[in-house]
Amino acid sequence: MDTPHPARMHDVTDETRAIVDLVLDYSRQRLLAVDTPLDKPFTDVELTRLAGRTITEEGVGARKALGVFEHVLAPACITTDHPRYLSFIPSAPSKASAAFDVVVSASALYGGSWIEGAGAVHAENEVLRWLADEFGLGPAAGGVFVQGGTLGNLSALVAAREAARDRGIHPDRWRVVCSAEAHSSIASAARVMDVEVVAVPVADDGVLRGDAVRDALDRHGDSVFAVVATAGSTNFGIVDDLAGIADVTTERGVWLHIDGAYGLAARLSPVARELFSGVERADSVIVDPHKWLFAPFDACALIYRDPELGRRAHTQHAEYLDTLTERTEWSPSDFAAHLTRRPRGLPLWFSLASYGAAAYREAITDSLELTARIADEIERRPGFTLVRRPQLSVVVFERDGWTKADYDAWSARLLDDQYAFVTPSSHAGRPNARFAILNPRTTFDDLVGILDTMG
Ligand SMILES: Cc1ncc(COP(=O)(O)O)c(C=O)c1O
Repeated sequence: MDTPHPARMHDVTDETRAIVDLVLDYSRQRLLAVDTPLDKPFTDVELTRLAGRTITEEGVGARKALGVFEHVLAPACITTDHPRYLSFIPSAPSKASAAFDVVVSASALYGGSWIEGAGAVHAENEVLRWLADEFGLGPAAGGVFVQGGTLGNLSALVAAREAARDRGIHPDRWRVVCSAEAHSSIASAARVMDVEVVAVPVADDGVLRGDAVRDALDRHGDSVFAVVATAGSTNFGIVDDLAGIADVTTERGVWLHIDGAYGLAARLSPVARELFSGVERADSVIVDPHKWLFAPFDACALIYRDPELGRRAHTQHAEYLDTLTERTEWSPSDFAAHLTRRPRGLPLWFSLASYGAAAYREAITDSLELTARIADEIERRPGFTLVRRPQLSVVVFERDGWTKADYDAWSARLLDDQYAFVTPSSHAGRPNARFAILNPRTTFDDLVGILDTMG
C-alpha cells in the first residue's frame, strides 16, 4: 500500500499516470463513439443501489470510480447530443469543441483576469469580436462568456439599470419591458433585482413589435430601464421585430437588450440573416454557444455595445483585487455578475478556428432547411396540425384529438424504446409536441420516423 503523502494526488507518479490514461482513454472513446444510446434517468433509489457508496475515507480507486460512472451514472444521463434528442433546446458540440474542453481543464486555465489568463482571454475576445461583427454591434463592442443565458440576461439587465441610475433616474419601482413570450430567465433576473416585469401581450403571430413597446413605455415612463426583445423564443423560435423595437428604444433613450440565447446564432446563416435586422442597434445581446453554436455546456456570450457600462456595473473591488482592478487590460470578471471563471469560450474558439465560420453557417442553414421541410410534411399529413409556421428551427404541432395524457404516454414510450427524446409542450392551454432541431446529425428520416410513432 502506498504511503499517504500530501501531494499524492498531484505529483506525477505511476498512480497519477494510470489515472490520467484511464480517464483520457474513456474520453476519447466517448468522443468518437457513433452509437451512444439515448439513455434515461433512473430513480435515486435505483442509483443508490447500483452505484453503492463511492465516497469513503480510503477512496475506492480510480478504476472502480470510473466503472461506476461508465456503467451506472452515465447511462442515467440522457445523451443531449443524440440526433433524436429534440426536447427543450438540445446541445450538439462539434468534435473539436468537445475535445478542446478537455484541454481547457487539463491546462488549469484561469479566465477571470488578463494578468492570469491573457492568452485565453485574447482568444475568447477574438470570438466575441467576430460575433459582434456578425451582429453589427460596432467597433467598441465587447463582453464576456458567462455560464448561461440566465446569467447573461441578469448581468445585462444589471448594467442597464446602473446606466439608467447614472443618468440620474430614480423611480420608486424599476421596470423591465419584454414580450409575454420572453424566456423565464427574464422573470428570474427581475426577481433577483427586485424589479417588475411588464410582460407585453403579443399578436397571434407571437411577435413583439415597436407599437406595443411604445404603449408600455407610455404607461410606465422613466421607470423602465430596459426593453428585452427575444431573438428566437424558446417555445416557437419566434424573432421579435427588432428593428421596430429599436426605433422606439432609440427614440425614448431606453436600453435595448436582445435575448438571442437560442436563436441569434441563426444570424450567421444567409437564409435567416434578415430576420435579425435591428440587432445592430442593441445595447447588449446574448447568444449561447452551448445551444446553436455547437459548443459544450456551459457558455453564454454576453456582448455590450459599450463595454464600459458593463464594467462600471460589475467590477468587484477588494483590497486583494486592487492589483487587478488598478490595471487597464481586459479582465472578463469585470463584465458580469461573477469573479472566478473558466475560459469557457475556448472550446468555441478552437472549433471556429479549426473548421472556419463557413462550416457554422452551413450547419445552421441545414437545420433551418430541415425544419421547413418537416413543417411541410406535418402540414401534409392527415391527422396532424402545424401550430405555427416555424421561423427558425422549432416546430410545434398537434396530433389531432390527443389529450395531454396521450402526449405524455407517447413521449415516455419513445424514451423507453430508446428511440427519441421529445417532451410534450403546450400553447394557449392546448397540449402539443415540439421538435427543437439544431443537431446537424438529425435527419429528415429521424423526424418522419418519430411522426410515424404517433399513428
Ligand atoms: C431565449 C432563451 N433565453 C434564455 C435562456 C436561458 O439560458 P440558460 O439555460 O443557458 O440559462 C434560454 C434557454 O433555453 C432561452 O431559450
